[in-house]
Amino acid sequence: MISAKSKKKVLFVAGEVAPIAKVGGLADVIGALPKALKKLEVDVKIVIPKYGIIDEKKYPLKKIASEIKIPFYNQEELVNIYSTFLPETQNQVEVYLVENLKYLSQGNVYFIADASSSGEINECQRFVFFTKCVVEIFLNNKINWQPNIFHCHDWHVGFLPLLIKMQTKGNQKTLFTIHNFAYQGKYNPQEIFKMLNLKEIDWQTLKERTKNQFEDLNAVQQAILNADLINTVSPTYAQEILTKEFGEGLENDLKKRKNNLSGIINGIDTTFFNPMTDSNLKKNYGLEMTNKELLKNKEENKNYLQKICNLKINSKIPLIGIISRLAEQKGFDLIITSFEKLMKLNLQIVLLSAGDLKIEKKLTELNLKYPNKFSCNFKFDAKLANQIYAGSDMFLMPSHFEPCGLGQLIAMRYGTVPIVRKTGGLTDTVKNIKCQISNVKYQGIGFVFEKYEAKEMLNSIKKGLKAYKDKKEWKKIIFHNMKQDFSWETSAKKYLKLYQKLLKIQD
Ligand code: GLC
Repeated sequence: MISAKSKKKVLFVAGEVAPIAKVGGLADVIGALPKALKKLEVDVKIVIPKYGIIDEKKYPLKKIASEIKIPFYNQEELVNIYSTFLPETQNQVEVYLVENLKYLSQGNVYFIADASSSGEINECQRFVFFTKCVVEIFLNNKINWQPNIFHCHDWHVGFLPLLIKMQTKGNQKTLFTIHNFAYQGKYNPQEIFKMLNLKEIDWQTLKERTKNQFEDLNAVQQAILNADLINTVSPTYAQEILTKEFGEGLENDLKKRKNNLSGIINGIDTTFFNPMTDSNLKKNYGLEMTNKELLKNKEENKNYLQKICNLKINSKIPLIGIISRLAEQKGFDLIITSFEKLMKLNLQIVLLSAGDLKIEKKLTELNLKYPNKFSCNFKFDAKLANQIYAGSDMFLMPSHFEPCGLGQLIAMRYGTVPIVRKTGGLTDTVKNIKCQISNVKYQGIGFVFEKYEAKEMLNSIKKGLKAYKDKKEWKKIIFHNMKQDFSWETSAKKYLKLYQKLLKIQD
């Protein structure tokens, strides 16, 4: 058993990290969980590709290694390694960035603006190359720090557990975290064998996939078959992905690994998401204040949001916020189907979202029809996001599936009441209003609907609007939610347990 403190060296391997290179919730987790682990005395570092979009003025980079040779496609590519730190932490977490102009360092995280994991060759090359770099750099002593646990996140680095298994004698362990099962990274196998200079026969777990050489090689499937341990980002989603409905075709592979699969709920960075200190807000507020003062300041944020979104400035009109990737998963078809009915209600909606252009087009049409009640903002804007969390009364997440969801947690911390569908992490973090508030522990309260139907969502919103009128009850919900602990502290301890379990695993 390896238990000495110095032995817990964990490398987070991922495609995104907030705030340096962020597209979705994955980045938020990679940018926050390591800080909490560091407090538990884990020696943790992060590695990502050095993308072209990274703002070097904001995040000063120091070159720590040059011209490291990486075998790829029967030739050698050269990479440089840079180092920076996650901002605003006392216990700073180091981030390594791998530079290579040909494969890693041009443009954004994804080549196609509205898609992550599109199956395109340039994307495949980027992330398989990155995976190969990680193996070369961290297993072959190219820098002065070697992890004994590779904590791999999502499809981008799905081939890493296998490559590590092939190269080591089991001294290095792997944990694979599934943030979103819908993205799997499926590519032509022959191409990947060429890139990695591997023969099909070297790849033991290939025999576990369907015997069809033309079938794509699936990065997430390979991770499931090869990682020492697997987890996902909520206990409910960990159960759901074992079923056909949510298993995205990999439920049978997952069932084989059931004993090594767990669910750990995500937290949020409560230092960054703090309405008391958030410099993006018009007026700060928090539980340290009197209730009256808190509500008054929150209302000022609402009026300000109405103003900047060109909506009628009126505290009495309930305001619903939506912040999400524009993706089918997030339930936009329900919103679009019920939109006309929604617009008949006394409410305003502010949306901040980017992604799928087809959904954007439909929402734009609705926006043109109802400019006074519906504000559409198609972009990533961290400042506006926090202004919406603070200025809204309710926060809508009608997801079809939701591995964890971070928006509902942030909303509750800002005293904004969630309206969510009962799925995945939303089930684990939001209890329906019907329950007795005093019995709810470690969870928030909101309006929860079960079936994925526009009618059900609409009913839940109507219940929300009705409850909003009962100021006394509404205040109770706000304060209950603001008091909950959604920090990473508890979940980081659970990750620590997984690391301990990994280091005890005997081969
Ligand atoms: C993905 C999931 C989301 C989760 C996030 C971080 O974006 O869709 O539910 O919270 O990853 O784990």
